[in-house]
Amino acid sequence: MTEKKEDDAQNPTRRNVLFKAGVAVNAVAGVLLAIPIVGYIFSAFAHPKLVGAEAWIALGDADSYVTGQTRLATYRNPFTRSWDGATAEIPCWVRRVEDQKFQVFAINCTHLGCPVRWFQESKLFMCPCHGGIYYEDGSRAAGPPPRGLFEYSTKVENGTLYVKGGILPTLSEPLSS
Ligand code: FES
Repeated sequence: MTEKKEDDAQNPTRRNVLFKAGVAVNAVAGVLLAIPIVGYIFSAFAHPKLVGAEAWIALGDADSYVTGQTRLATYRNPFTRSWDGATAEIPCWVRRVEDQKFQVFAINCTHLGCPVRWFQESKLFMCPCHGGIYYEDGSRAAGPPPRGLFEYSTKVENGTLYVKGGILPTLSEPLSS
């Protein structure tokens, strides 16, 4: 009888220990789950240079672009992390309109983002995904795209062509034409 009473007296202690162990395990699991969520929320503040950042980026010798023609060029996005790898290489279409006048377009279709191709013979950009078509000045010609191609700001300095790049364009960007 005395033994039974001792057992009863010990059980609440065991229960308490198990309860506390359960709480501790749940707390650890909660912290482990919260780390990536909190990291995601604060990552934008931890890398302020990546938010809305833009910079003038050299696209090479302006004279390497032929007047009246459009060709593909690539620049490295300066606002990337080391692990971005090849995704930091941004292709764009460069059109030399006149001696000092350039147009540089984002390669992505404004419908759902497929890369558009340039056809010199017809002087049209065509999207392989749903048939979107753009004129050589980037304006929309036909198909589902809601607007013209996204256009970068450009400048020529000391014979070098620059584009203002860094952030990805969205449908809220102003029209290119
Ligand atoms: S993604 Fe280009 S037309 Fe749909």
